[in-house]
Amino acid sequence: PVPLIIDTDTAQDDCIALLAGLLDPAADLRAITMVAGNVGFESQVRNAFMTLNVAGRLGEVPIHLGCRRPMVRPWVSAEDVHGDGSGGLDMDFEGCATEREHAVDTLVRMAAERPGELSIVAIGPLTNIAMAAIRDPDFARNVKALYIMGGSNNGRGNITAAAEFNFYVDPEAAKAVFALAPGLPITVVPWAPVTLDQAVFAQPALDEIAALGTPLADFFTRVCAATLEFDQSVGIDGTTHPDSLTAALLLHPELVRRSARYNVDVETGGELTRGYAAMSWGVHGLPDNATVVDDIDAAGFYAYIKGLLSTPTRPQ
Ligand code: BDR
Ligand code: CA
Repeated sequence: PVPLIIDTDTAQDDCIALLAGLLDPAADLRAITMVAGNVGFESQVRNAFMTLNVAGRLGEVPIHLGCRRPMVRPWVSAEDVHGDGSGGLDMDFEGCATEREHAVDTLVRMAAERPGELSIVAIGPLTNIAMAAIRDPDFARNVKALYIMGGSNNGRGNITAAAEFNFYVDPEAAKAVFALAPGLPITVVPWAPVTLDQAVFAQPALDEIAALGTPLADFFTRVCAATLEFDQSVGIDGTTHPDSLTAALLLHPELVRRSARYNVDVETGGELTRGYAAMSWGVHGLPDNATVVDDIDAAGFYAYIKGLLSTPTRPQ
């Protein structure tokens, strides 16, 4: 199994990405690290605990609290998209506490304990990752692979015309992380085209999932309800699954159909382009610094998620 940390702003699809880390035998999830992003920090932590609970893994994977705001700017959330991030779900997880160690220290420590072995799936703003690299100059070198959900490979944003949410919230952190290559092997799963074209579950798929009737399928339907409503309101025909796709592609690289080496950089200025990801290919003088996923086995990804949600679990 792949030893990994999931760095998350836990709401909706982040929860499903956590399920991949918690239930897929190919994963050895060592820690969950929390970063400011989608919804209030307390809600994000609750959502992560509820995910551990529904997976039957409460108390088995530590949750470490990380940066409460972006490196330079005020925090921007996406409560209009996610509500509280779990459809008002209210599970008891009394007696479970987050760890004392700060998430940035956890990232640094776990990477240093097993140089070249730890992978990281970063599915929120990149604040914790950038801070870990500032904290320990060996951090980038120690990490085996960093899979990032963020940016777009055709300039199509979701929080603005130009920017995807994770890069928009902390563009300075995102820029700093891409500057860590080539020491750090980075793979990017963008919002567009791959998420929008290939990781949308339309109503028939959602009906199939609901019909599974497992606690995990019920959880999926509940936590994804707010995103479904929002996605439909902006003309997307179903729910978007960028975060779980990112986890799935790390654990099952055979789901990638086409990827290429790009130079990725992130706009930190710009009146209308804050957080825009410039993904350049074949531009004179720009060395590649990341692999960008452009095409996936969409049916295989859906089957993967459906398989995960079919797992019989006993919430504690
Ligand atoms: C990203 O932003 C968040 O709202 C989602 O969790 C995902 O990580 C998509 O832009
Ligand atoms: Ca996320």
